[in-house]
Amino acid sequence: MRRTRTRAATLAAATALLAGLAVAPAAHAVTAHHHAETTLGQLAERTGRYFGSAVDNPELTDTDYANLLGKEFDATTPGNGMKWYATEPQRGVFDFTAGDEIVNYARAKGLKVRGHTLLWHSQLPSWLSSGAWTADELRSILKNHITQVVKHYKGKVFAWDVANEITNEDGTYRENIFYKTIGPSYIADALRWAHAADPKAKLYLNDYNVEGTGAKSDAYYTLIKQLKADRVPIDGFGMQAHLALQYGFPYQMRQNIQRFADLGVDVAITELDIRVILPSDATKLAQQADWYGRVTNACLAVRRCVGITVWGYSDRHSWIPSVFPGEGAALPWDENLVHKPAYDAIRNALTAAGS
Ligand code: G3I
Repeated sequence: MRRTRTRAATLAAATALLAGLAVAPAAHAVTAHHHAETTLGQLAERTGRYFGSAVDNPELTDTDYANLLGKEFDATTPGNGMKWYATEPQRGVFDFTAGDEIVNYARAKGLKVRGHTLLWHSQLPSWLSSGAWTADELRSILKNHITQVVKHYKGKVFAWDVANEITNEDGTYRENIFYKTIGPSYIADALRWAHAADPKAKLYLNDYNVEGTGAKSDAYYTLIKQLKADRVPIDGFGMQAHLALQYGFPYQMRQNIQRFADLGVDVAITELDIRVILPSDATKLAQQADWYGRVTNACLAVRRCVGITVWGYSDRHSWIPSVFPGEGAALPWDENLVHKPAYDAIRNALTAAGS
């Protein structure tokens, strides 16, 4: 009996083992499926960061696009909805319709919102850009704009691009209306006014062609160091990262991110896209994927690089073809919302860092 029971038990164990082996591939498949459903936002969160995408208001009516955005990402930036022309179309008359629409969408989907942007030389309302202002008048207009917009979004926007694209390629100040009328003091004042309106929001300077070391990023390094020394409320530096394969990968990107972090500010990759000369092909997409992975890894290598935002996530809605004719295919999803190799490269980098 004992032997029989033992044999039966052995048989049962063997059967269970075989059954276990038989179900093993299925269990593995379930696991793999589970991982595939982990979103870029969730993977970034495991590293203590966010992964976002910009969105422009008309795109919210593209249901498939808006649903995937809400599912895959944990942060968003309005592509246009919070810019000056949208928020203060007449002097002293504020319109938060477009920005609110994106904030409401983001709240419904559980995404946090980066505010973009409180001042820029572009997309200003004509009453402002065509006016002839004294320094005092423009200072008061700027203060009121920043105060009203930041107060309206207090608690709803976690970080602001306070000043966008304020330097030239050689590192000198861009001669925008604020610089020409007020002088460089407008930058520190803008940060102070934004801080007064929402002391908890993280305040950034933001620009393109600053991802690698060079004259332009050197200028920001010097400026942010001075702002910190002067106790001006500056929390972060935004590297837009509008990259193009034909111009080469930014020089020493990780080291560049690190040196800003060492100044005591956060760094964010704020508008990432990597365009190619059309038509795109497998070789270009492979190189693009490599670059997406390298940008992601450069951020992941620096503790104070807090998150990455792509400037729209799909080639379906991208600013590039209209501005750079003959170029495009810059995002990790194609026009049909199908992943490109770039998506896998981002995903692999985030997964490796979060495990
Ligand atoms: O609002 C008008 C609409 O009334 C008109 O029918 C339509 C016809 O072209 O144009 C609409 O304006 C467009 C606007 O986006 C809103 O959709 C402008 O033509 C178009 O030039 C504008 O482009 C935006 C661009 O900034 C302006 O420079 C892009 O969507 C936006 O993605 C882009 O974002 C910038 C960041 O703010 C700063 N960094 C660079 C980045 C890319 O240029």
